[in-house]
Amino acid sequence: MIVHAGSILRFSHSPSLRNTFAAARYLSSKPVTLKERLSQLIPGEIETVKSVRAEYGKQSFGPVLVDQLYGGMRGLPALIWDGSVLDAEEGIHFRGKTIFECQELLPKAPGGLEPLPEGLFWLLVTGEIPTQEQVTGLSRDWAARSTIPEFVEEILDRCPTTLHPMSQFSMAVTALNHDSAFSKAYQERIPKKEYWGPTFEDAMDLIAKLPNIAGRIYRNVFGQGKLPAIDLEKDYSWNLATLLGFGDNPGFVELLRLYLTIHSDHEGGNVSAHTGKLVGSALSDPFLAYGAALNGLAGPLHGLANQEVLIWLQTMQANLGKEPSDEAVKEYIWSTLKAGQVVPGYGHAVLRKTDPRYIAQRKFALRHMPEDKMFQLVGQIYNLVPDILLEAGKAKNPWPNVDAHSGVLLSHYGLTEMQYYTVLFGVSRAFGVAAQLIWDRVHGAPLERPKSYSTKAIKKMFANKHQ
Ligand SMILES: CC(C)(COP(=O)(O)OP(=O)(O)OC[C@H]1O[C@@H](n2cnc3c(N)ncnc32)[C@H](O)[C@@H]1OP(=O)(O)O)[C@@H](O)C(=O)NCCC(=O)NCCS
Repeated sequence: MIVHAGSILRFSHSPSLRNTFAAARYLSSKPVTLKERLSQLIPGEIETVKSVRAEYGKQSFGPVLVDQLYGGMRGLPALIWDGSVLDAEEGIHFRGKTIFECQELLPKAPGGLEPLPEGLFWLLVTGEIPTQEQVTGLSRDWAARSTIPEFVEEILDRCPTTLHPMSQFSMAVTALNHDSAFSKAYQERIPKKEYWGPTFEDAMDLIAKLPNIAGRIYRNVFGQGKLPAIDLEKDYSWNLATLLGFGDNPGFVELLRLYLTIHSDHEGGNVSAHTGKLVGSALSDPFLAYGAALNGLAGPLHGLANQEVLIWLQTMQANLGKEPSDEAVKEYIWSTLKAGQVVPGYGHAVLRKTDPRYIAQRKFALRHMPEDKMFQLVGQIYNLVPDILLEAGKAKNPWPNVDAHSGVLLSHYGLTEMQYYTVLFGVSRAFGVAAQLIWDRVHGAPLERPKSYSTKAIKKMFANKHQ
């Protein structure tokens, strides 16, 4: 949808837009910015939530099973997030749009085929597909906000190269809270209904500064020399690729655009998204909330799985050679399971089919690197692992997830330092967490405080009840 002031006037029968009719008038010629568009949407969204709560607030949906308390709360309805919804069969929908629809509909860079993550962020925040102009505006805004404070540079420069890149990443992001607009505004006692404004500014600053942090970590840890400057006229992914030293490789830049788009959000309940929301509910600013989210992403069952996959594949290649037979690969997979380990990149807490993020990356690989031996091994494993996991009989989902593929693509272009991969996942995940934090502050989301029970209490509760 093209959102010029003119279109706001045409659609002014919508209550949310009517409320902002006057505000839109001065925008007669230039396209609205993300913040302007958001402020137009807010009154309508607040009304919608109010009416849903008034009408259905006391309705219950779904029982709570004791198993869910012990079982990591799988499937427990507990959170609201409109930005993305995960369907067990179809995978992620960003504001109702599948990965493939996003690839088709979101603006691209000149000559590019992959969506610009700037557009995905606009979609997450507003529910609307931005124009090319609006996406360019966002690229420029982020580039202009990209500088990180000197003391954060120093923190990173003083980290030992043996400190995992994710630990460095989370430290640097946390330290950005030094300049948090939200934190400052809160100290100045701004009214609650205005919280979203400084949260929005922090969210934009957070995303904008990540390339300089991620680039510095990469260069410090892997000895890649001095960090180049951000180009104010280029898109976010081009700049990040350049800071990593791959800006002159158009294939890598396109990969990064796809990568940042598809890793951005995976509904509200996954560890990183939920951690961001939980910590944000204490009114910790977006830097603190996102720093916490990164620490969750750094776990091997979550974002670190992309690193684990590549280690697993490389060990397999080292043991079996570059073109192993199906029989040898099967045996290797079984040996992983028999050693009590998981097959990294397979299984999911919600998905029950092949992750469309895996398919999107596979399509990219088929277009750009069909001859790559490691890519071929990934394809071979795809044909073998699901049957083995089914035969092993434990995993509820035997199909590959996003992490089964991403490392192979990055390493194809020469980004071979696998301990670094989760940092790129982290840059992308900031988009979802930031969008969620903005809307949580719009809605005045309260402090999260679910109830925990003791096993003794559970036993007592059901002792005299017949099942
Ligand atoms: C993602 C993951 C953590 C989901 O966990 P979950 O919701 O508890 O998954 P399930 O309900 O299917 O787990 C049931 C059992 O199957 C096992 N299982 C799940 N996926 C497995 C895999 N890829 N390889 C081997 N065993 C697996 C679990 O470890 C669990 O075993 P347990 O009962 O001995 O503890 C899990 O599938 C996993 O560890 N995958 C590998 C790591 C990975 O790729 N993570 C990235 C996710 S995007």
